[in-house]
Amino acid sequence: MIYSKIVGTGSFLPPRIMPNSEFEASLDTSDAWIRERTGIAQRHIADESQTSSDLALEASRLALQSAGLQAADIDLIIVATSTPDFVFPSTACLLQAKLGAPGCAAFDVQAVCSGFVYALATADAFIRGGTSRRALVVGAEVFSRILDWNDRSTCVLFGDGAGAVVLAASDTPGVHASVLHADGRHAGILSVPGNVCKGRIVGSPYLQMAGNLVFKQAVKVLDEVARETVEKAGMTLADVDWLIPHQANIRILEATAKRLGIPEERLVATVDHHGNTSAASVPLALDEFVRAGRIKAGQRVLMQGVGGGFTWGAALVTM
Ligand code: UT7
Repeated sequence: MIYSKIVGTGSFLPPRIMPNSEFEASLDTSDAWIRERTGIAQRHIADESQTSSDLALEASRLALQSAGLQAADIDLIIVATSTPDFVFPSTACLLQAKLGAPGCAAFDVQAVCSGFVYALATADAFIRGGTSRRALVVGAEVFSRILDWNDRSTCVLFGDGAGAVVLAASDTPGVHASVLHADGRHAGILSVPGNVCKGRIVGSPYLQMAGNLVFKQAVKVLDEVARETVEKAGMTLADVDWLIPHQANIRILEATAKRLGIPEERLVATVDHHGNTSAASVPLALDEFVRAGRIKAGQRVLMQGVGGGFTWGAALVTM
C-alpha cells in the first residue's frame, strides 16, 4: 500500500506589515472593531512587483530545504490560488520555471479558501495511485489585488502570503483521509464576479461577500466535514492533536473548535497576524507551528478549508 506523507513545510510572508490602524485614516472603521469582530490585528501586503508565484517560490524553497530535497526531485507541482499571476499560464508552471526544474506535471487548483486542502487531496491521490512520488503542494495568494479598499466590510479581512508542503510516497500514512465538498448554488455569497472579454474586464474585479451568510455556512460545514473526515480515517476527534481550520475569523475558528469539543490549546490560530490569506492560510499556519516546534512529528493534524464556490474540505494527516 502506498500512502503520502508531509516531509517538509515552508512559508513566506511579504515583508510589509499593515496594522489595523492604517485603515482608520481612510475608512469608517477602527482597530477595536476589527479585533473584536475578526481577531485580526495585522496582515502582510505584497509590494506591486510581487506576484503569487514569487511568494510561492520562497515558500517552496523553504519546504524543499526542510524536506532535504532539490526542485529536480519533485514530479508534481500543484498551486492553489485564486490570485494567479495571469489568466494563463498557470501559476504552477511559472513556479516550476522559477524553481528551475522543468518537465514535471504542474497545474493550479482553484477552490478559493479551500484551495490548499483541495490541492493536498489531489496530490495525495496522485501519490497513492502511483502517478507521482514527490509533490510540491502550495497555497499562494495576493488577495490585496482583488480587494475594494473602500469597502470596509471586506478589505480589512484579507492578507497576502504563501505556504507549501512537500508530500512524498511513504509506506505509512501520512494522509489518513481527505474529504472534499462543493455547493455551487451558493456561488454568489463570496465571489469576484468578473472576467476578461474582448480585452476588457467585464463585471467586477473586486471581492464581494455576504459576510454573515459565509460565516454561518462556514461554521456549519467545518463541523460536518471534520466529523466526516475522522470517521473516514477510522478515528475519532479525540485522536486529533491539532485542528487547523482555514484562518478566516477567530470567531469561526473558536466556534468550530467548540462544536467539535477540541480544546483551545489544540486549535491553531494565526489569523491575528496573517489575516485571511485564502488558499495560503492553512499551510502558513502549519509551517509556523512546525517551525515553532509546537506541531511535532507523529502528531495528527486536521486541516480544514472553506470558502468561495462554495467549497469546503478537510484532511487528517500524521506529521
Ligand atoms: O475565507 C472565507 C471568507 N470569509 C469569511 O469567512 C468571513 C466570514 N464573515 C465574517 O468574518 C464576518 O461576517 C465579518 C467580519 C465579515 C462581519 O462581522 P459580523 O459580526 O458578521 O458583522 P455584520 O456583517 O453583521 O455587520 C455589523 C455591522 C454593520 O453595520 P450596521 O449595518 O449594523 O450598521 C456593518 O456595516 O458592522 C459594520 N461593519 C463594520 N464596522 C466597522 C462591517 N465592516 C466593518 C468594519 N468596521 N470594518
